[in-house]
Amino acid sequence: MNVQATKPLNTRLETLLRGMPKTELHIHIEGSLEPELIFALAKRNQVTLPFKDVDSLRAAYDFKDLQSFLDIYYAGASVLLEEEDFYDMTWAYLKRAHSEGVVYAEIFFDPQTHTHRGVAVSTVIEGIDRACQHAKTTLGIESALIMCFLRHLDEDDALKTLQEALPFLDRLIGVGLDSSELGHPPEKFERVFAKARALGLKAVAHAGEEGPAAYIWGALKALGAERIDHGVQCVQDDQLLAELKRTRVPLTVCPLSNVKLCVYDNLSQHPIKKLLDMGLCVMVNSDDPAYFGGYINDNYIELFKALDMNEDDAIALAACSIEAAFVPQSKKDLWLGQLQAFHQSLT
Ligand code: ADE
Ligand code: ZN
Repeated sequence: MNVQATKPLNTRLETLLRGMPKTELHIHIEGSLEPELIFALAKRNQVTLPFKDVDSLRAAYDFKDLQSFLDIYYAGASVLLEEEDFYDMTWAYLKRAHSEGVVYAEIFFDPQTHTHRGVAVSTVIEGIDRACQHAKTTLGIESALIMCFLRHLDEDDALKTLQEALPFLDRLIGVGLDSSELGHPPEKFERVFAKARALGLKAVAHAGEEGPAAYIWGALKALGAERIDHGVQCVQDDQLLAELKRTRVPLTVCPLSNVKLCVYDNLSQHPIKKLLDMGLCVMVNSDDPAYFGGYINDNYIELFKALDMNEDDAIALAACSIEAAFVPQSKKDLWLGQLQAFHQSLT
């Protein structure tokens, strides 16, 4: 990562960013697996990893693009075998998110990464869901699950995955699309998304991370996506910018991810402030925090340092994170009230 010289934040702004109630809507739960937990699970499950220890694994987190990251991310996920593994991973993330002011998280998971290794979809969903329920009752943080299809696989595999998940439909809020973007346009998954939407699931899709603005149009038109994950390549297309502004289809932006995967050389080049100022609904997320050098508040803080953003920007981003959540308006009003109260409580 090319680290730019950045100004320190004033204490009040840093307190606001760290403590403000916010949601996280773009977090791959497998991307929250820290190297220490990867090695602990490898030992528990007798899985051999192609890395000697935690330090040599961390040293490999030097990515040149999305694919170079995905290769290591899928290797890391290979230690997940039992329900308890999915529980431990999700619980660790939710504890951390709660400590960073996250009131609600929509969590992506990749069932095909596990079912292709012989792990049942029930094992995956029940482990993740049990941690979500435990976090709600013990910490108060709420969450929902979004099942992602891997776009480097074919649509029939996604259809089969949707079929296998039918008994767990009540645990899911939506479906998503992730993995290698270039060469795998959204249109490839039109039928499976139509089927998922007919089942009452929300649709989101990664688009315009490395891929062109045309993939964002594709996600909107062919998949009926109600949110776009990343979406930063919308800056290439004025008509698309106008459409995103008009419809307020949110973009779940992940600043540190974009730098770590070389979409931008450094955060000072990131377009999120420009998009916010243009009136788009954008907010900050961590994507794969264990791999990209930070959880949600690291993303907020590094971004605010690099782009010289202020308190109004912080409140606007947190408000967008609440607006973009798949929850009833009454819940959004409650969290927006808490956001305002937290801001007013700062001295
Ligand atoms: N899977 C996990 N992280 C991803 C990302 N940033 N883009 C696409 N697929 C992913
Ligand atoms: Zn992502």
